[in-house]
Amino acid sequence: MAEAKAPNQRGGHAEEVSAEALAEIGLRFEVDGEIATITLDRPDKRNAQTFATWSALARIGDNLPERVRIVVVKGEGPSFSAGIDLRMFTPEGVPGQGSFGSAARLDGPAFEERLRQAQSGFLWLRRPEIVSIAAVQGHAIGAGFQLALACDLRIVADDVKFCMKEPALGLVPDLTGTKPLVELVGQARAIDICLTARIVEAQEALSIGLAERVVPGDELAKAVQDKTAQLLTTNRDAAAATKRLLQGAAGRTLEEQCAAEGAEQAQRLRALFGGAS
Ligand code: CAA
Repeated sequence: MAEAKAPNQRGGHAEEVSAEALAEIGLRFEVDGEIATITLDRPDKRNAQTFATWSALARIGDNLPERVRIVVVKGEGPSFSAGIDLRMFTPEGVPGQGSFGSAARLDGPAFEERLRQAQSGFLWLRRPEIVSIAAVQGHAIGAGFQLALACDLRIVADDVKFCMKEPALGLVPDLTGTKPLVELVGQARAIDICLTARIVEAQEALSIGLAERVVPGDELAKAVQDKTAQLLTTNRDAAAATKRLLQGAAGRTLEEQCAAEGAEQAQRLRALFGGAS
């Protein structure tokens, strides 16, 4: 795990991770103007994830340049991600990172803190200032499914296979995925998907709201590019304010939501036309 360092511009406390360190973990991170791309880059192991993956994702979030408006999360090779690295279940674990066995032997607060740190790699993808898009092909299993769920939008290839495998392995999905899953597909379908650990393929994913769009595999990159271009046509501050409103809507009454709309609009109008803030 990375140690906390000086606060950065987003209020985080971690240092940027070098491209070399990311490559060792099996990640790539590129920024091109307002678009950042995170690539899970361990295709020979189907982009399996480790604690180091989640820690690096958190640090990418902490150090995301302010100019970035779109974050694309994708996977190299045939699978988006086969989920947690299965070596975590072995006594030897992942070299330098231990195993679930060693983590479980930490005392209560230390263990829970380790799990919270892992979640922080996924949580920042919901920030109002960005729109995150998962470009998903092939398998998105367990932690892979949850990473796709952490993104605002999912554009998928027609060979996609979502699977929430955790309950089949004696675990629960704990990487921030249960809330978006229920919000997207409803509680009954979420129970069906998780408690059977069955595979959800592209057409079902589209029809139940798990995916925004299904395209042939060789058109996935272009579909994501087109969506990115569309998203960048709107005003940056209005987009962030609107996402804040949409994110808060489910937890507010109609009256509260109207008040929130009014407050955001007053701020927008003052920013656009001047006036007291
Ligand atoms: N961890 C580590 N290595 C993995 C892996 C994983 N999760 N998934 C695949 N690999 C490795 C394989 O061991 C194999 O390595 P070698 O070539 O060295 O033998 C390589 O990746 C290719 O795998 P396959 O030959 O199996 O590839 P495939 O295309 O035929 O099948 C697959 C792909 C269906 C994803 C299959 O690999 C598979 O079922 N993987 C395991 C999926 C899984 O159970 N993940 C755990 C989910 S639960 C979770 O994620 C828990 C959590 O969040 C806490």
